[in-house]
Amino acid sequence: MSLQLLTDFPLLAHNTFGFDVRARHAMRIDSVDAAVALARDERIAGIPQLVLGGGSNVVLTRDFDGVALIVGIAGKRVIAEDADAWLIEAGAGENWHAFVAWTLAQGMPGLENLALIPGTVGAAPIQNIGAYGLEMGECFERLSAVELATGERVDFDRAACAFGYRDSFFKRAGRGRFMITSVVFRLPKAWTPRADYADVARALEGASTRDAQAIFDAVVAVRRAKLPDWTVLGNAGSFFKNPVVSAQAFAALKAREPGVVSYAQADGQAKLAAGWLIDQCGWKGRGIGGAAVHDRQALVLVNRGGATGAQVLELAEAIQRDVLARFDVELEMEPVRV
Ligand code: EPU
Repeated sequence: MSLQLLTDFPLLAHNTFGFDVRARHAMRIDSVDAAVALARDERIAGIPQLVLGGGSNVVLTRDFDGVALIVGIAGKRVIAEDADAWLIEAGAGENWHAFVAWTLAQGMPGLENLALIPGTVGAAPIQNIGAYGLEMGECFERLSAVELATGERVDFDRAACAFGYRDSFFKRAGRGRFMITSVVFRLPKAWTPRADYADVARALEGASTRDAQAIFDAVVAVRRAKLPDWTVLGNAGSFFKNPVVSAQAFAALKAREPGVVSYAQADGQAKLAAGWLIDQCGWKGRGIGGAAVHDRQALVLVNRGGATGAQVLELAEAIQRDVLARFDVELEMEPVRV
């Protein structure tokens, strides 16, 4: 298999922040065979590799002196069905939102709360995408990947993926080592709506039904109202994780800041709305150079034109300092920095 090796490749269209950086080389990977062949490709031996899906969760701080691997593996199909569930497989390069819409069109609900999340199917497990009361890991069965260094094909079940809140094995020990080629989801036939999240419940008030399509539509409406469209205003979604603090730290914070927005966790800890913390520090709508805090959702940093990754990081650090000084809470960056 001989793949085309592109040189001096612009990444502008391959990162949702819209940073105008380039990769020394790039290759399009459209099949599992192509992914397997990478390990034996002498043209890229020893060169740093960067696997890119939709580029919706990366901050590219400068030109990449290596080979960008653009994953375009397509395909979606029902691979098995039993009395309880459907098993659906999708290629890593499929657009996530289109995949969610397709499952609903097949009459297989379950992923509707994750509508309109930017990026690809293959990127979804890496940060365990989540929104409006659902995390992808809950609908996950297994994934197939190729180890870049060896070309070996490896399957990961749910336990091996070690999913956490916006976290997985692929952001930790597995970081940079694998190319995910396909993902299998398990969608139970006994569907239960998840419509408790305040914004979604509000959007559903006028709806005549509460089926999966109605939830899908509500989620799309809420996201369109709050979150910037990256094709218009570059961004990578939430820039920080919502910090989880101990019950004790939360009690102390709540005493000082009664308005703090939080979600109780099963283990007694509290997850704080980072957007609220940033908002309270007065950052909404403010920025540094082309990098700014979104004016409708303070958790989202945007490129309002000509921003560099370095400016976004500078802004992020200023926000982290302010939030630490006022609330004694550390914000952890959510996208991957390259
Ligand atoms: N808030 C403010 N000001 C702001 C933003 C938020 O006061 O500028 C407060 C409000 O009280 C609001 C609360 O924070 O009700 C929570 O805000 P929102 O419902 O927008 O959710 P979030 O906690 O900011 C998380 C996820 C989003 C996901 C939404 C909905 C993280 C890091 N972010 O945001 O995920 O769509 O919940 O489930 O967990 C992403 O990961 O990229 C992402 C967009």
